[in-house]
Amino acid sequence: MSNKKIIIAIDGYSSTGKSTVARQLAKALGYIYVDTGAMYRAVTLYAMQHNFISQSHFDQEALEHSLPLINIKFEINSESGIAEVLLNDRNVEREIRTLNVSRLVSPVAAISRVRKKLVEQQQLMGKDGGIVMDGRDIGTVVFPEAKLKLFMTATAKDRAERRYKELLERGEKVTYEDVLKNVVNRDHIDSTRKDSPLRQAKDAIMIDNSNLTLKEQFDQILKITRESIARS
Ligand code: DC
Repeated sequence: MSNKKIIIAIDGYSSTGKSTVARQLAKALGYIYVDTGAMYRAVTLYAMQHNFISQSHFDQEALEHSLPLINIKFEINSESGIAEVLLNDRNVEREIRTLNVSRLVSPVAAISRVRKKLVEQQQLMGKDGGIVMDGRDIGTVVFPEAKLKLFMTATAKDRAERRYKELLERGEKVTYEDVLKNVVNRDHIDSTRKDSPLRQAKDAIMIDNSNLTLKEQFDQILKITRESIARS
């Protein structure tokens, strides 16, 4: 079996459990995991903190102008072993997961200059392989040559239910209807934007996890991955 460290691209709709499976996979293989959604969320948080964006306005020019001032990095949490996102050296892992950020992230992620900056950084992080990266454009734009591409999907209802539970567990006061609306709205913006819209790469394997347990899904994906590494 080949020991080559490949690039694994995981794309798909919002709240399909991409990050859970990407993290499990990276751990099993000894690879690095990169959550690219966290990077778009961190830029959105910066825009919110500087009043460039709210529910009622968006000063895109001001955000584009400030892009050189936005520095995004990951640091490993020594207790959990999970990479957490730093915005200008401050850990913002919790803040970027709120529904407020989720509501504003898709318009920010539609801006070409934002994408260019983050895609360049993502390509650098993965250049030596041994990486599992999840997002919306990893298999189509960031690493079109990735050895293994997965495209995750599930019904909007299943996804909203999972995300709703997660947010409640974190103590956010949200309604299921708001979460469902956000999931559907983000999918729409992410798939219809001009630059790098969310779509399944031709050579990606589709995983519909509506009726799979986490373990079933992981076993299935680990098998596909081992086969792909053996072929590489
Ligand atoms: O994966 P997530 O839900 O944390 O991502 C947040 C948003 O960021 C998502 O609605 C679209 C955007 N995104 C993107 O455009 N490209 C990526 N590679 C990752 C995320």
